Amino acid sequence: MGYRVRNVCVIGAGTMGTQIAVHALSFGYKVTIFDVDNTKLEKSLQKAGFAGSSSRAPIISPERWMNAAKSLKTSLSLKEALKDADLVMEAGPEDIAVKRDLFKQMDELTSDNSILATTSSSIPVSRLLPCTKKDKQCLNLHFYPPIIVTNMVDVMGSPATRAEVMDAAVKWVISLGCVPLKVKKELLGFCYNRIWRAIKKEVLFMWAENFVDYREIDRAWMIANGTPMGPFGLMDAIGLDVVYDIEMIYYRDSNKPEDFPPPRLEQKIKQGELGVKKSARILYLPGSRIQQSGFLQS
Ligand SMILES: NC(=O)c1ccc[n+]([C@@H]2O[C@H](COP(=O)([O-])OP(=O)(O)OC[C@H]3O[C@@H](n4cnc5c(N)ncnc54)[C@H](O)[C@@H]3O)[C@@H](O)[C@H]2O)c1
Repeated sequence: MGYRVRNVCVIGAGTMGTQIAVHALSFGYKVTIFDVDNTKLEKSLQKAGFAGSSSRAPIISPERWMNAAKSLKTSLSLKEALKDADLVMEAGPEDIAVKRDLFKQMDELTSDNSILATTSSSIPVSRLLPCTKKDKQCLNLHFYPPIIVTNMVDVMGSPATRAEVMDAAVKWVISLGCVPLKVKKELLGFCYNRIWRAIKKEVLFMWAENFVDYREIDRAWMIANGTPMGPFGLMDAIGLDVVYDIEMIYYRDSNKPEDFPPPRLEQKIKQGELGVKKSARILYLPGSRIQQSGFLQS
């Protein structure tokens, strides 16, 4: 059976869905985006004013991105949106019940050859398979925002996924100017998130047990890797509550006590010290663009 991607349907016009849709449009795909809320696309497009905010050059010009964005319209009919889709990118909320319901509809409303993908950050696709008969055509395609700068995508199938489906997905990812990170066996966190998680876990331990000041850890990281931000700066930008929730997902998956996030992190969240998003205090360390606030109040 041949799988070729020309028409893409994106479900969910939030942060990720909007970026995936605009990115695919910029690379010449026919794209339809569906959301239950027709105000979401505009809001997400406004939020995506990221093009100039990174230290790295985007893989496409902001003008090309904005032009594609202008032609994108939300569809309020899932049936219409899925009608001609060769590839469905599910980017609804990170809620397994919602995703299962969406996969059931994706199963019923797509053609026999459609590829069904989710960009979920924490749900391996095999957990969605009970809702579809197209189990051989399902996989995780996990993007990293902002896509035009962080141009890599985890590609991970379940044990049921056909090799041809994996190949078609890899080809599609490459055609978007992105680097596919193929995960050979299902793994929570995929490829890069898993690397980042190992670093995060170690530096949180060093900070929580008072071995090294977080600023020293960030300086070490920035000097060694030539990045404008260290792990604590990044966690601050992500939000300490989000970091904690993700650590809890890994803990629940492994059930190992050493994977439980440090109580000092939870303490910060209880005190409302969530990071840049919650604080007007942004500290620029000399010689860097690092922003710290959640950890600043240690
Ligand atoms: N935000 C990130 O940094 C990021 C990165 C990688 C992957 N992801 C994953 O992408 C997915 C979406 O995350 P997000 O941050 O874009 O969330 P978001 O809340 O910004 O967007 C979710 C969208 O889904 C819509 N929605 C809700 N129920 C729906 C339904 N039944 N049908 C269609 N649309 C529905 C909402 O109206 C909203 O616009 C999640 O699975 C998340 O794990 C997020």
